[in-house]
Amino acid sequence: MISEKLLKELNKQINYEFYSEYLYLAMSAYCESLDLEGFSNFFKVQAEEERFHAMKLFDYINEMDGRVKLFAIDEPKTSYNSLLDVFEKALDHEKFVTKRIYTLADIANEEKEHATISFLKWYIDEQVEEESSFNKLVKRLKMIKDDSHGTYMLDSELSQRTFIPPTE
Ligand SMILES: [Fe+2]
Ligand SMILES: [Fe+2]
Repeated sequence: MISEKLLKELNKQINYEFYSEYLYLAMSAYCESLDLEGFSNFFKVQAEEERFHAMKLFDYINEMDGRVKLFAIDEPKTSYNSLLDVFEKALDHEKFVTKRIYTLADIANEEKEHATISFLKWYIDEQVEEESSFNKLVKRLKMIKDDSHGTYMLDSELSQRTFIPPTE
């Protein structure tokens, strides 16, 4: 059984993960509007990952005999100034999510909820990967600047990304 306080925060996290899915779909649509299908694909796959993060929490709460609560999803920002702007905002968002996960881990620690401490470890590791992948892309876009050849090279690279559900 999970404590009331922790359950409330885990349910809020489901909402943040679904919001992330929505935000990345909005970013995918923006890239599509620039006719950059590879970038659009990258964000579509990212959105699938976020749905996976949400469902992993959904299943965990059920497994622990808690009650899942679904809240309304906020409307994501749909217009951006440039590709760089999109990736900088995505990186900021991931940093925010990392803080959220740390808050959850702090509460789980305070309440000595060892099962949830162990469960959250997966998210802590995942956030390292998420921040690093966006950080690398921000740096590459800064190098590319307005070079259309570089943009199209990266677009074709990102078109290769596929969603592989994590096994554990
Ligand atoms: Fe996530
Ligand atoms: Fe994420």
